[in-house]
Amino acid sequence: NVGNSTNILWHECPIQKRDRQQLLQQKGCVIWLTGLSGSGKSTLACALSQSLHSRGKLSYILDGDNIRHGLNRDLSFRAEDRSENIRRIGEVAKLFADAGVICITSLISPYQKDRDACRALLPEGDFIEVFIDVPLHVCEARDPKGLYKLARAGKIKGFTGIDDPYEPPCGCEIVLQQKGGDCKSPKDMAELVVSYLEKIGHLQ
Ligand code: PPS
Repeated sequence: NVGNSTNILWHECPIQKRDRQQLLQQKGCVIWLTGLSGSGKSTLACALSQSLHSRGKLSYILDGDNIRHGLNRDLSFRAEDRSENIRRIGEVAKLFADAGVICITSLISPYQKDRDACRALLPEGDFIEVFIDVPLHVCEARDPKGLYKLARAGKIKGFTGIDDPYEPPCGCEIVLQQKGGDCKSPKDMAELVVSYLEKIGHLQ
C-alpha cells in the first residue's frame, strides 16, 4: 500500500537521471531557500537562476506565492496546510531534480520537521538548504507587501514571525546573513550559492 492507494507498482524507464544529467551536463538537485517573509527569497531565487542560466545551467524556480496561485490554491496558512504546501513542493522539487534540473524553491517553510522531510526525499548531497538570515525587524521595516502592518493590526492572523513561529534551520548547508554591516546584494549572495555548487561538483 502507498498512502491511500492499493495495488500500485513502480514503473522504471531505461532512460534514467544519470542519462538526463549527461545530456544537460549538470547535476539535478534542490536548492531550498528558507527565511521570513520579506527576507529576499524570491529576489535571491531569480538572481541565482540568472547566474546559472548565464553559465548554461538549467534551473527552475518553485516560488511559494506563485504555487499558491495554482497547485496549492486549496491551502491556507494553518500549520497543517503549510506542512502540506511544503510536502507537495518537496515532491515536485524531487521530480525536477530527477529530471536533471537545478530546482530552486522559495518558501518561508517555517517548520524544521517539514524541511527535514523534504531533505529525506533526496539522495545525500542533493538537498541544499539555504537560510536567508534576515532579522524580523529588518523584514518588517521593508514590508514590501504591507503584510506585516496588517498582521500587527490584527488584520492577518497567524503571520510568520508575528503570531506564528519561524524555526531557523540548524545544520543547513549555507547561511546568508544580512545583519548590521554585513549586507550582501542578491547577486553576491547568488554567487556564494553558485560557488558552493561548484565546490561540491554539481556544475561539472
Ligand atoms: S509557507 O509558510 O512556506 O507555507 O508560506 P509560503 O507558501 O512561502 O507563502 C508565503 C507568502 O504568502 C504571503 N502570506 C503569508 N506569509 C506568512 N504568513 C501568513 N499568514 C501569510 N499570509 C500571506 C506572504 O506574502 C509570503 O510571501 P513572501 O514571499 O515569503 O514574502
